[in-house]
Amino acid sequence: MARKIVITSGKGGVGKTTICANLGVSLAKLNQRVVLVDVDIGLNNLDVVTGIENKIVYDIVDVIENKCRIKQALVQDLNYPNLYIMPSAHSYNKSQVTAENVKKVVEELNDYFDFVLIDCPAGIDEPFKRAVCGADEALVVVTPHLSSLRDADKVLMMLTAFNLNSVSLVVNRVRGDMILDKEMLDANKIAEILNVKLCGVIPEDDNIATFLSLGKTVNKNCDSYLAFNILAKNMFEDAKKLFDCTEKYKGIKGFLKRLIRKRI
Ligand SMILES: Nc1ncnc2c1ncn2[C@@H]1O[C@H](COP(=O)(O)OP(=O)(O)O)[C@@H](O)[C@H]1O
Ligand SMILES: [Mg+2]
Repeated sequence: MARKIVITSGKGGVGKTTICANLGVSLAKLNQRVVLVDVDIGLNNLDVVTGIENKIVYDIVDVIENKCRIKQALVQDLNYPNLYIMPSAHSYNKSQVTAENVKKVVEELNDYFDFVLIDCPAGIDEPFKRAVCGADEALVVVTPHLSSLRDADKVLMMLTAFNLNSVSLVVNRVRGDMILDKEMLDANKIAEILNVKLCGVIPEDDNIATFLSLGKTVNKNCDSYLAFNILAKNMFEDAKKLFDCTEKYKGIKGFLKRLIRKRI
């Protein structure tokens, strides 16, 4: 029986797809069988982030329209054999892609995986509902910016209408230097404001963009790599550790780093 987790936010561009792909990798490294389901139909990019776009033969819409079996649409990750991607389509016949049909696909994946991570589109309309209805848990992604907080608040409210077992928060793009300089809210404060359990903190990390441009998930020796591993442990073992984004900006060396960043 898989845990079916939708990764959502309301606002676009806050890091849902990035978190979905990298959390999937970290869970796969914990020997979990993971499938990433791209439900962002029409604006899909999970395939690009995971570098599998040239391996796609069928997609989720083909499964829904009975053009193929579910296993035929699954693409195995190039580096992690436990990780699969169910790609989305560039275009589709809207009438077929109903919440009920998406839920059926997710249910069927239940038998083969430990984790089904659903990459949700932005917004709070029909496509959002389609992505959430198959899940039994939600991970809400927020960045420490006012507009993102406001949208997350709306989404948290919307999620109460679904029968979810758990809803938790990941704060993305956190800058430790700005927190220490009191220019950014820290993740615990954000979780307190939104009144939701905090289960992950991901730092602002230029490596994410670098790896993405190569069609790869993040790799060793960068802060976000560690942060995604901690998030996966929190999800898998219900651990409570959080990545400390302020650590490298503390002490004399850290203070100098903060000064340099401010001057750039
Ligand atoms: N922690 C981070 N640090 C730096 N850049 C990030 C981080 N998280 C996401 N990004 C960048 O933000 C952009 C939007 O991310 P994406 O995952 O596509 O958002 P969404 O799926 O919510 O629309 C991408 O260019 C990605 O590289
Ligand atoms: Mg996305």
